[in-house]
Amino acid sequence: MTVRSAFDDWMQAAQAATETALAQFLPAPGDTPQRLHAAMRYAVLDGGKRMRPLLVQAAGELFDADIASTLRAAAAVEMMHAYSLVHDDMPCMDDDALRRGKPTVHVQYDEATALLVGDALQARAFGVLAGLPIDPARVVAMIALLAQASGSDGMCGGQAIDLGSVGMRLSLAELEQMHHLKTGALLRASVLLGAWCGTAPTEQQAQALNTYAAAIGLAFQVVDDVLDATADSATLGKTAGKDAADNKPTYVSILGLDESRALAEKLCSDAQRAILPFGDKARHLRALAALIVQRKA
Ligand code: IPE
Ligand code: IPE
Ligand code: MG
Ligand code: MG
Ligand code: MG
Repeated sequence: MTVRSAFDDWMQAAQAATETALAQFLPAPGDTPQRLHAAMRYAVLDGGKRMRPLLVQAAGELFDADIASTLRAAAAVEMMHAYSLVHDDMPCMDDDALRRGKPTVHVQYDEATALLVGDALQARAFGVLAGLPIDPARVVAMIALLAQASGSDGMCGGQAIDLGSVGMRLSLAELEQMHHLKTGALLRASVLLGAWCGTAPTEQQAQALNTYAAAIGLAFQVVDDVLDATADSATLGKTAGKDAADNKPTYVSILGLDESRALAEKLCSDAQRAILPFGDKARHLRALAALIVQRKA
């Protein structure tokens, strides 16, 4: 018998709330153009671990954010993430046929639709964030944060480095930079957006959150690289062994499996230590750091 923890209960409730918020903030399935809107819902709903929305909500708890705001920010970040996955899977990028246990959007629909799904989800993410019921100056800062995390100084920049590095042997510093951008930036934004939904963090608190977010952001992609090399496609819900097949530089190809796992563990400890000053209020953020490293998919 598995014993459910209080964290499991919290996570299940937070994921369910995320699902409801996403369904509400996405275009209705019957709205014209129906095919595009159906494809957007296909890309976002019913799948994924919802790690970024969980981070938004857990960080929001630290600063007594109200739930309507954190769910809105959570939905915005998840739409941005879902867009990045749709484009990442396209033939011009990783050319993947399986995502979240389903055919990828360009396979289920077509390439032009997948392109538009990504474009429209990105625009929608900013629209959803713009509707935050908080101080407008703060909302503008949050929009700027998400823009930076997703653009050429963030996720898109990391994707460009990833695609330009096929067949190359990157130094550890270059690999770290690529992972910080392509994955870390949006995870960091999730933590900061959650915090900004509540009372503003002090300079010291913001620093602690930044240290936490940088560590889990890197750990997340290190573990993604490890799972790509060790798990099967059914468990992952995406094609396993793809990095080696595509000759991508990864933590596994450069450090090996054992050192990659050890690094992920160290990053988890670093992250958890950084938020010690928040005490029990940060228990969900601490548990999420552990989950990011221990996950099997
Ligand atoms: C996969 O992200 C792509 C990366 C940034 C590593 P996730 O592992 O969070 O994918 P979902 O959202 O659970 O499908
Ligand atoms: C993609 O990294 C990160 C994104 C910005 C989408 P990967 O290419 O390793 O993600 P997966 O393994 O396909 O989910
Ligand atoms: Mg990729
Ligand atoms: Mg990929
Ligand atoms: Mg991967």
